[in-house]
Amino acid sequence: MKLRTIDGLDLRGKYVLLRDDFNVQIVDGQITDAFRIEQSMPTINKLRQMGARIAIVAHRGRPKGVRNMDYTLEPIAKYMGIKLIPDCLDRDFLAQMSDGDVVLMENVRFYAGEEKNDPAFAQNLAQGFDVFVNDAFAVSHRAHASTVGVAEILPSYAGDLLAGEIEHLSQVMEKPKRPLLSIVAGSKVSTKIGVLKALAKLSDTLIIGGALGTTFNFAQGAKVGNSLYEADQKQTALEILEYAQQNNCRVLLPLDKGVAKAFERDAVRVDKDFSQIEDDDVILDAGVKTTQRDVQAIKEAKTVIWNGTVGMAEWMPVWSYGSFALANEIASQTRAGKLESIVGGGDTVAVLQALGIKGDITYMSTGGGAFLEFVEGRVLPGIAILEEK
Ligand code: 3PG
Repeated sequence: MKLRTIDGLDLRGKYVLLRDDFNVQIVDGQITDAFRIEQSMPTINKLRQMGARIAIVAHRGRPKGVRNMDYTLEPIAKYMGIKLIPDCLDRDFLAQMSDGDVVLMENVRFYAGEEKNDPAFAQNLAQGFDVFVNDAFAVSHRAHASTVGVAEILPSYAGDLLAGEIEHLSQVMEKPKRPLLSIVAGSKVSTKIGVLKALAKLSDTLIIGGALGTTFNFAQGAKVGNSLYEADQKQTALEILEYAQQNNCRVLLPLDKGVAKAFERDAVRVDKDFSQIEDDDVILDAGVKTTQRDVQAIKEAKTVIWNGTVGMAEWMPVWSYGSFALANEIASQTRAGKLESIVGGGDTVAVLQALGIKGDITYMSTGGGAFLEFVEGRVLPGIAILEEK
């Protein structure tokens, strides 16, 4: 896939509408993980150096077309040290801008036209700008006004973050160094059916963990106690296992689990095989045996694709045991030059962040849903429209 990029454009004095994904977690007004913002900075700085006048359009949360200040981008503007334009359709500020200036416009999802990709709203959003640059890989799976609508109106290009995502992810999907190990975990089979199938086809080994793994264990008749799993996905899970077998992909399901008597951070941990799990047990992490086996699989791999934590990783250190062990092994093998590692999804990136080993990973995607859809081989509408014809 070849995208139109910003390289070689003459943007001096031009008004650039830049789409970024700043959908970051904010607790008590503080940004808890600025990864997406930090990853967006090189393109912003490049456009500034090119002399563009940049207005960033972004969203946060799902305010459903209503001006709900719980979802304001104010903390992000503050963090970046730039001005927030309180209404993304206001254009008065443009006249005050000089070359290299950058502002952030308030949450575009305060307007119902955004998610509907309403043509009139897209027209208003594009108003006053010369060029559209999309650097928001993480929201490019949505056909919204600020990803697709404006790209149909203005000359449109991919920013460096977005282009880099496509380059890195395509490379690993098209020519992975083998053996390729994929680790898919998290909570819901229903949201990951496509990616599980795609990775079962592509990978030599597939580890299915977390609550997702529990659903597979349940499908095979294991006792899962009072844990989070999807009983209605039993048939789908069995079909995915069969599909993996047809495609010569070895699937590693959880062997044992870290369990507690309550879904609580401070609950006492006991590691149990499935045969020992009681009706009131709650699975909160991968067990020790499972983790040791999975760590060994990482040692044998030349490429790892990882999405989703294998337990309640945010409840450190007790319930993060499994996810931390995988993260540490992936980082150490990558550091030693023995592994190419691709990691996607906010929770998974947060584990690497907590361990201070983000820098050891070959490539960390800013995408959550977009990462999964790309890996699944789906067309991302916000990207398709930037393709060089
Ligand atoms: C994300 O956080 O994955 C993107 O910003 C997309 O958000 P959405 O799922 O609310 O569209």
